Amino acid sequence: MSKVLLTGGTGFIGSHTAVKLLEQGHEAVLADNLSNSSRDVVDRIEQITGKRPVFYEIDVADRQALADLFRKESPDAVIHFAGYKAVGESVAKPLMYYRNNLDTTLTLLETMAQFDCRRIIFSSSSTVYGASQPPFNEDSPTGGCSNPYGWTKFMIEKILEGAAHADERLSVVLLRYFNPVGAHASGLIGEKPGGIPNNLMPFITQVAAGKRDHLNVFGNDYETPDGTGVRDYIHVVDLAKGHVAALNYAESHTGTEVFNLGTGKGTSVLEMIHAFERANGLTIPYVIAPRRPGDLAFSFAETRKAEAVLHWKAEKNIEDMCRDAWRFEKGLL
Ligand code: UFG
Repeated sequence: MSKVLLTGGTGFIGSHTAVKLLEQGHEAVLADNLSNSSRDVVDRIEQITGKRPVFYEIDVADRQALADLFRKESPDAVIHFAGYKAVGESVAKPLMYYRNNLDTTLTLLETMAQFDCRRIIFSSSSTVYGASQPPFNEDSPTGGCSNPYGWTKFMIEKILEGAAHADERLSVVLLRYFNPVGAHASGLIGEKPGGIPNNLMPFITQVAAGKRDHLNVFGNDYETPDGTGVRDYIHVVDLAKGHVAALNYAESHTGTEVFNLGTGKGTSVLEMIHAFERANGLTIPYVIAPRRPGDLAFSFAETRKAEAVLHWKAEKNIEDMCRDAWRFEKGLL
């Protein structure tokens, strides 16, 4: 069993991963500056698992605070989630994105080296495949990102690869997520974006809750079966399990390894709206709006590698994602 530091540990994916780690007997130490999450997530993780994770309200780029954490906790491994993640905001504030996401990672890696911590799992994104053609596999070319957020993921992958190349004792696992949605079945933790949601599922749940009067469907003239954008949505609980599988893998391997975490199945925006309506017995008003700049028509994963090497496969379907996302949103009302 490992003691695992989760940077960004109270965020959407971090909190679900903390639950899975605790359920499987690992120890979880959460570090988060609460810039996009709140302290009550720690209580909720405890409510779900019966175990209270250790929580540090720190900025991971704060070298002194992070060193204090490492000195007190001596984590065996790190799962690095901390980072800004809004695509549109990254276009408006590129320097803020590069400074925060890269600084955080560099400070983390230097501190890990200082305290002899040699296992790191990184929260990357399918966005690094940029202009490649789907289905994306781990050998598809990366780069050609359409926004600074995507470039920070690309650059951090390169930084980690370089670090592992230079120190053969390091173990680096890069996890490229597709579109994480859903929530824990308890309804206690989930995705809680501040302001107007950028992503499809939180927007749908806010329309369902009456917080917004309709959904804008960004384009219906793509080269897809119904003209709307197709994505590979993955339930956040499946994603969390993928992190535990990656952590176990990293225990006995050094060097850098990359895995896609997706389902391999594409769902269009209209299919998602209708699945949500069916799963929850609700109607989602929508209008067709212009395309959103930078969006791809299609994105979905080739998932064979994670199945073969990590023995991990997504199990939940679109209905589970819609039901669980709505249960969480209702809990906020
Ligand atoms: N969409 C709408 N209306 C909305 C929001 C989204 O029609 O209000 C559509 C988009 O056009 C797209 C699909 O729903 O076709 C999914 O959009 P999301 O914003 O939910 O997700 P993206 O695929 O654009 O982006 C996600 C992550 C990024 C990551 C990217 C990698 O949010 O962090 O996947 O492909 F970079």
